[in-house]
Amino acid sequence: MDYLKITSAKNLSGSIKISGAKNASLPLIAMTILAKNPVVIKNLPHVADIRTLLKLLSNLGASCEFAEDSVTVNTAALTQTKATYDIVKTMRASILVLGPILARFGHCEVSLPGGCAIGQRPIDLHLKALEQMGAKIEIHAGYVQATAPDGLKGCNIIFDKITVTGTANIVMAAALAHGITYITNAAREPEVVQLCEVLNASGVKIEGIGTAILSVHGTSGALVNIAPFAIIPDRIEAGTYLCAAAITKSEITLTNAEPKHLGAVLAKLEEMGCTFTLADDTITLHPTEVLKAVKIVTQEYPAFPTDMQAQFLALATQAEGTSIIEERLFENRFMHVSELQRMGAKITLNGHTATVNGKSELSGTDVMATDLRASSALVLAGLVADGETNVHRIYHLDRGYDSLEKKLENVGADIIRLKEK
Ligand code: UD1
Repeated sequence: MDYLKITSAKNLSGSIKISGAKNASLPLIAMTILAKNPVVIKNLPHVADIRTLLKLLSNLGASCEFAEDSVTVNTAALTQTKATYDIVKTMRASILVLGPILARFGHCEVSLPGGCAIGQRPIDLHLKALEQMGAKIEIHAGYVQATAPDGLKGCNIIFDKITVTGTANIVMAAALAHGITYITNAAREPEVVQLCEVLNASGVKIEGIGTAILSVHGTSGALVNIAPFAIIPDRIEAGTYLCAAAITKSEITLTNAEPKHLGAVLAKLEEMGCTFTLADDTITLHPTEVLKAVKIVTQEYPAFPTDMQAQFLALATQAEGTSIIEERLFENRFMHVSELQRMGAKITLNGHTATVNGKSELSGTDVMATDLRASSALVLAGLVADGETNVHRIYHLDRGYDSLEKKLENVGADIIRLKEK
């Protein structure tokens, strides 16, 4: 197992190239199940979750050919329809194959993902929507068994809650369904938008893209021809490096980024005193000497993302005054708090709200990553902590950050990946 050793960074400078978005890549890889041609996906990030999903597709019979930062996925020979526990347990987003496999083959089995570190994360909304489309669903021996021998049928789906992978799953199922599926209370995340845009460009008419009401015109089972496309930039990776710039009071430029997807994150950094120079695909953060406290509530896009909550919590430990950070999406997404406290942060937790009394002097020590974004919060804290910080269990971090230590090292951070003894 690897860990990261970080020595307090004085000042960083330079530029960081943002990779393709993990959370856009996952549904778009699952989407290749709907294709009649080999699909070329460019700007794919080198992260463990992508490898896991490609392995799942390979296990089912698909072939994947890799080039530097692209992959060609051919699902023509895909015959297996069961996503087994050994893979699903390592990545909940494996559930994304349920919609497209069921739509193409009329049956699918996916292991139930179980709980995870940040909360229960049920999949009831995915299943309820598929049932509305005519699927018969049974839960047996830890597996979702879904059948739709006569194909899925378009219908009116109103999600009780906004769900990102739930929306993606149903869009993919609806793409091959008979008739039109109307999805109300759909997720509007840029990653869902890209999935819809790629399908729309491939002949699956989708109206309302980027809004909360989608109409997906199904192809009645006909597979679609999907042209090559490039994954959008990772807005969470970009947000994390903006926090790295802000916490170390450094001017850093992000390239290959998409400022339009970062509205809420940039607004909060501005409230804290940072300023920006924005161009089409670059963002330069101009730091402030004195970070101001901030109030944050996590919500669905376009509001402030839960996937940036941990990083802002780390940043708030270096702000003057009292910051209040409320987590509304996941019930247990504050596992990083106790590790930050061990480094000297003054944080009190009350239910879903963390109150951060800044500014604290942090001291480097051994800390444990508990989930993907919690890991990057500990790295950020390590960049300003006095002495050395060792972040353990970084397999969480490797699930979603492409070459994090190399990117930070390139801008001057003292960070190294080492093997646990
Ligand atoms: C996706 C992202 C994840 C992000 C999250 C919220 C991917 C691969 N992952 O996760 O990084 O943190 O969106 O922006 O894109 N819910 C239910 N029943 C369901 C589905 C969801 O109750 O069937 C609840 C969840 O427990 C949660 C909320 O709805 O409280 C939102 O979850 P959801 O949007 O589904 O998250 P994911 O798609 O799993």
